Amino acid sequence: MDKQKKEELLKQIRDEVLNLKSSPLYSYRVANNYYPVIGQGNHDAKIMFIGEAPGRNEAESGIPFCGAAGKILDELLASIGLPRSEVYITNILKDRPPENRDPLPEEIKVYAPFLDRQIEIIQPQVIVTLGRFSTAYILEKFGLKNEIKPISQIKGKVFSANPLLGHAVKIIPLYHPAVAVYNNNVKEELKKDFQVIKQFL
Ligand code: URA
Repeated sequence: MDKQKKEELLKQIRDEVLNLKSSPLYSYRVANNYYPVIGQGNHDAKIMFIGEAPGRNEAESGIPFCGAAGKILDELLASIGLPRSEVYITNILKDRPPENRDPLPEEIKVYAPFLDRQIEIIQPQVIVTLGRFSTAYILEKFGLKNEIKPISQIKGKVFSANPLLGHAVKIIPLYHPAVAVYNNNVKEELKKDFQVIKQFL
């Protein structure tokens, strides 16, 4: 798919999410003057990072991972020499849940089709899932439901997925960077786990 087509399809996703009145999070977004957070980065990225949902900073700016968890993600990317501009970063939910609570199943149901389309458009070779929600969703989507286990047991592993997209996809679950914001041990562990991405650069 050429660059222009990708741009057009991604813009279509943005426009649809912007007007997603059927979402349980729509009225909260409008009441707070928030933006939906669609995704950011290289539309030809080899590596896609999928988080959970926008937090306050993200919803106020429309940019994924631009708050405290984003700072950690930036540090992790820098630790393996991977420029943020080279990857694509998105979330399962495109709108902020109140008080940053966990995504509800019905919210995942509403927003996941947009994530599916982003994956089809960008066609990443490696999908890094940040936290348990995106990990469970992506493993199941790629036929690896049996591999869904507590994130502490599968983080840092490389799963080879069924070639849904016509080419092989590797899935790498990791802890969510937000967990490392106030926990230096987790941050060090995450940094160590992040090294696994290096082989794909
Ligand atoms: N946490 C997420 O999961 N995504 C963001 O964009 C920011 C924080």
